Amino acid sequence: MGRDMMRIDVITVFPNIIENPLNESILRQARKRIDLDIRIMDLRDFSPDKHRTVDDTPYGGGPGMILKPEPIFAALESIFEQDGDRTAARVVLPTPQGKMFTQEIAEDLSHSNHLVFICGHYKAIDQRVIDAWVTDEISIGDFVLSGGEIPSLLMIDAIVRLIPGVLGDIDSAKTDSFQNYLLDCPYYTRPEVFRGFKVPEILLSGHHEKIEEWRQNQKIERTRSRRPDLYKKFLQHKNQIENEK
Ligand code: ADE
Repeated sequence: MGRDMMRIDVITVFPNIIENPLNESILRQARKRIDLDIRIMDLRDFSPDKHRTVDDTPYGGGPGMILKPEPIFAALESIFEQDGDRTAARVVLPTPQGKMFTQEIAEDLSHSNHLVFICGHYKAIDQRVIDAWVTDEISIGDFVLSGGEIPSLLMIDAIVRLIPGVLGDIDSAKTDSFQNYLLDCPYYTRPEVFRGFKVPEILLSGHHEKIEEWRQNQKIERTRSRRPDLYKKFLQHKNQIENEK
């Protein structure tokens, strides 16, 4: 449906962190519904020594361990040995040093046919891996996690749900928060009155145009009051569209 296939490789020292979340909910559906091939690679399988070592102390001293280049190079080389085109792939390193992950980046990555995530752990990964292989260094926020597994999962979730055919109702992705730089509006379901709290009258009116207008106003007002940074982008985007008309 709409695209050929997507392959995602995840290189990690902790495959167990990644395994289960990929087999639940939307990601599980995605793996059934579209041609999505997700492979988890245990970095230790690519260690050249019998102790399966993947890290070492930093040159120049200091605390923490650094992921060695040899196992990561070997893992990446094995990926592209089977699946030729390295130039078409995006190799993502989740790191607090990266550019901030956004819906736009998720969308951009969702158009790629091959994504590789390298999960860092310990203090850092050897810079030569980044220089030789990584196309995208991406942060999921200004805080530090203990490894790249959770950021990789987070990004895979955001990316995969954008692939046509993954969500049952395609419209549900189109009206999500951050479409057109707006937060989403409130939603209600039955009952009409719950513990004295009523559903807004307009939603019961059956008047679709008025409901759409109410929803749009709620999105704008929420964005203006909660996220002035996003609201600025929304206004710029709106002006740009109006100027193009
Ligand atoms: N690894 C550790 N912290 C991270 C963060 N904030 N974003 C992406 N990867 C990370």
